[in-house]
Amino acid sequence: MSQISHDRLLIIDFGSQVTQLIARRLRELNVYCEIHPYQKVTDAFLQEMAPRAIIFSGGPDSVMREGSPRPPQAAYDLGVPILGICYGQQVMMQDLGGKVEAGEHATAEFGRAYVTGAQIESDFVNGWFTDDTGREQVWMSHGDHVSEIAPGFEVLGTSPGAPFAITADRSRRFYAVQFHPEVHHTPNGARLYENFIKLAGFAGDWTMGAYREEAIAKIRAQVGDKQVICGLSGGVDSSVAAVLIHEAIGDQLTCVFVDHGLLRLNEAQDVVTMFRDNYNIPLIHADESDLFLGELDGVSDPETKRKIIGRLFIDVFQKHANEIEGAEFLAQGTLYPDVIESVSFSGGPSVTIKSHHNVGGLPEKMGLKLVEPLRELFKDEVRALGRELGLPESFIGRHPFPGPGLAIRCPGEITREKLEILRKADAVYIDQIRKHGLYDAIWQAFVAILPVRTVGVMGDGRTYDFACALRAVTSVDGMTADYYPFTHEFLGETATRIINEVKGINRVTYDITSKPPGTIEWE
Ligand code: XMP
Repeated sequence: MSQISHDRLLIIDFGSQVTQLIARRLRELNVYCEIHPYQKVTDAFLQEMAPRAIIFSGGPDSVMREGSPRPPQAAYDLGVPILGICYGQQVMMQDLGGKVEAGEHATAEFGRAYVTGAQIESDFVNGWFTDDTGREQVWMSHGDHVSEIAPGFEVLGTSPGAPFAITADRSRRFYAVQFHPEVHHTPNGARLYENFIKLAGFAGDWTMGAYREEAIAKIRAQVGDKQVICGLSGGVDSSVAAVLIHEAIGDQLTCVFVDHGLLRLNEAQDVVTMFRDNYNIPLIHADESDLFLGELDGVSDPETKRKIIGRLFIDVFQKHANEIEGAEFLAQGTLYPDVIESVSFSGGPSVTIKSHHNVGGLPEKMGLKLVEPLRELFKDEVRALGRELGLPESFIGRHPFPGPGLAIRCPGEITREKLEILRKADAVYIDQIRKHGLYDAIWQAFVAILPVRTVGVMGDGRTYDFACALRAVTSVDGMTADYYPFTHEFLGETATRIINEVKGINRVTYDITSKPPGTIEWE
């Protein structure tokens, strides 16, 4: 649990696919919240966390199944407001004396539905029914439904398949809805959360300015007068973590930037300049490109490439970190989505699609303790913190770049020649995207150089050069993605520029695969 001093809201996760969205909606309202799986929420946990309010998430189970997920009784006894969503509503009703019935065709609802207000004044639905007809669009996704509400509850809204779409026990401040107010298909859903946190008495003071001050105080308290090392990748997360820690402890921080020779055009220089010149942060620039490219020579299997890079990265980082006397802490830009222990009902381990590399394993090996000042934040909050800290916009808004770098954008064997061509083509492509004002609308865009040469004709001569693929996707979190719908004019203009400006490429294709079934990177 975190050391945050703000009022907290506890989200008990029963395994819904969209639990994280509840947290997003609350953070947008400047409320600090944490998601915890229901198994972890014990009486002692509740006492220690002392939330000002609780939300029960949705979930895939049926409350009618023996042993289905439950909150502890203590949650109801805390005397704080509770909001149950979908499965969370059904749990609340059953726990408090109502009834739930199995889904039948007549009552199961999936997709868009309309809730009609019961014309009862309540802080919870205040201003919510915006439609002239007194209805409001919501997103339903339930098989089972509440068939009898618990004593003390009243109905504030109904839908054709859910006669108890919105229920409330105003004296205990318990609220429960059958639909999902956190998804975009419930267009006015944020208003319900706003009403809920208002009636729970939240100050709405979870701002980046406040976060920055608290984070700095916590880092100072944790680190004392010891030394911290931080692996920099040039990406947003590690950059923001480094600048924040530097603000807290100054020269007690040393950053190590491992240049594996798989960076984009001018990237190493840009990162080093920003940290040395703008921030005066002690920085070791470890140019290890010969080592990495040497070990990757002749390797074409994607997983082998990733494993080699991961192993070398740790070795090199450790080598340089050992030179920093008295280092006791390792700083990492771990984000909140990485630390949420979500509830898995699928059992068994999931398949490894790709081995992602990080500096995992190092802290134990080197006897280091972790400093992770971004653990409570989502990606866009990290960007907001970066702005608060004055990082240049060009850094904050950067597309994500994978740890293994250009190695996984170069299917087949990696050669210096191919990397050189790839860097130039990528720079032209990104320049095009920026010129057309599209950079911020795209989650990630890059060029992959293909392991194939094709025949072309330029001027009067024959060419036999590499083909490349352009990739651009939109995404919220990188887990799923859609290809970006460029216009034909844009694609044509970009292909022409790449072929004209980059020697070694004579054919350009556009990758129109979404994720799934594809992945964002090519390897
Ligand atoms: P995929 O290709 O798996 O990528 O759809 C999803 C997101 O993760 C990034 N990615 C990585 N990031 N180390 C990283 O730090 C890695 O090994 C790695 N592999 C993929 C990818 O760029 C995309 O944003």
